[in-house]
Amino acid sequence: MMHSAFLILIILTDVTSCQKVCSYQDVLDYLNLTRDNSVFKLTRPVLDYTHPTKVELDIILYAILAVIEKTQTFIPFVWATLIWNNERISWDPDQFCGITHITIPREILWKPDVFVYEMIQTDDSPQSYYISVAHDGTITSEDDIKIVSTCKMDVHKFPFDTQKCNITIGSASHCVDEMRLSPFSNSSRATQFSREVMKTQGEWEFLQLSISKVNMTFENKLWENLIYTFSMKRRPLLHVINFLLPILFFLTLDLASFFIADHRGEKLGFKVTVLLAISVLLLILNDILPSMSNKTPLIATYCIVIFALMLLSLLETILVTHLIEKDSQVKLKVKNEHKKAKTNNSDAEDKRQTCCSCICIVSSDEQQHELLPVAEVVNNSNHTGEYHVLVLILEELKELKKALNLHLSGSEEGGKYVQWAARINRVFFIFYAVTVLLFLSLMYTEWNT
Ligand SMILES: *[C@@H]1O[C@H](CO)[C@@H](O)[C@H](O)[C@H]1NC(C)=O
Ligand SMILES: *[C@@H]1O[C@H](CO)[C@@H](O)[C@H](O)[C@H]1NC(C)=O
Repeated sequence: MMHSAFLILIILTDVTSCQKVCSYQDVLDYLNLTRDNSVFKLTRPVLDYTHPTKVELDIILYAILAVIEKTQTFIPFVWATLIWNNERISWDPDQFCGITHITIPREILWKPDVFVYEMIQTDDSPQSYYISVAHDGTITSEDDIKIVSTCKMDVHKFPFDTQKCNITIGSASHCVDEMRLSPFSNSSRATQFSREVMKTQGEWEFLQLSISKVNMTFENKLWENLIYTFSMKRRPLLHVINFLLPILFFLTLDLASFFIADHRGEKLGFKVTVLLAISVLLLILNDILPSMSNKTPLIATYCIVIFALMLLSLLETILVTHLIEKDSQVKLKVKNEHKKAKTNNSDAEDKRQTCCSCICIVSSDEQQHELLPVAEVVNNSNHTGEYHVLVLILEELKELKKALNLHLSGSEEGGKYVQWAARINRVFFIFYAVTVLLFLSLMYTEWNT
């Protein structure tokens, strides 16, 4: 039993040693593919130089690293695959135990010299070390590239904007006769694949990746380029919370301040504070938006108009405060005049009292109509003491009446200004509220279209 098992083991090892053993090195030896062999490195890998090298390019978006409006920079992180054919390489997999692929260091073979036109910074992310070679000469090179590119952005609708950034890829030294570029996957596949691999999406929501081919003429030669267009939509929530809503709140506060009483400077102080708060918010805008833009960003219009409206309402408050101030000045003047008149009167009274305490006729033209009966009573009376007291009362009553008249007329004159102020306030409030409503609805439609 033990013996037979040992025998089977020996037979088994014999069978495996008889089988052919292959290594990748056999393939390399067959191809004469060594580090020193310059045949594979120096020239475009075609046997007939009139053959163009067909290069297929596939780009999948991994992540949108940054979109900077201020410097007009778009930084995507992409997975780029280049596929081309090397006519000098081919082997029969059956001769090499079915080996169909080998991976070799990338510097051994010729590579297409494609580059990104919009790139403004060389890519410093580590490159993959190997490329894959198939038995029919198809070579596949895969790279993760961080592309720092310029992108003309339109911030007109900020923060409800959609941006489109182009990545143009072409060969640096081979025109269309020597190298043909074509996309490996069409727009919808690239979009779908990008959506699947994009794990995190920050401020920007990736919409689609569209691919188009263009021919470019340069120095009488035709160059084939691929344009990858990345469309993405901004998620506006943060900007709405940070910027649009606070300004709206301040505007509401400004509107509400019409219900604060006009006299005393409280309303004025309140409005100035609100205006200052808005100007602080405007500083934030300066950080976000690029200084040059062909169309005025809607958000700038929004801020400027609201700022101007609040300034106007501040000016209106100043005017109303001025009117009320003027009114109280008029009142003060009237009061002073009245006081002066009173002192004059009392002088005259004193004189009269000292001059003629016995002359008892109150001249009828001085007498007021209602006081006539009293005067008659006084006339008829022969008691000088009582009479004197009554004359004094009469004088006092006359004085009172005069003062009352003065006061009434005075308040009427001052009231004119107060009424004006109230009217201006009412009209301006209606104008203000209507303008704000119209403006906000206009902004809404502009942002929505
Ligand atoms: C392989 O390449 C080496 C170096 O270039 C060369 O000397 C040699 O002749 C080549 N052998 C074959 C079989 O092509
Ligand atoms: C670009 O030029 C090539 C070669 O002439 C031609 O086959 C191709 O259709 C052209 N592509 C476009 C987009 O014009």
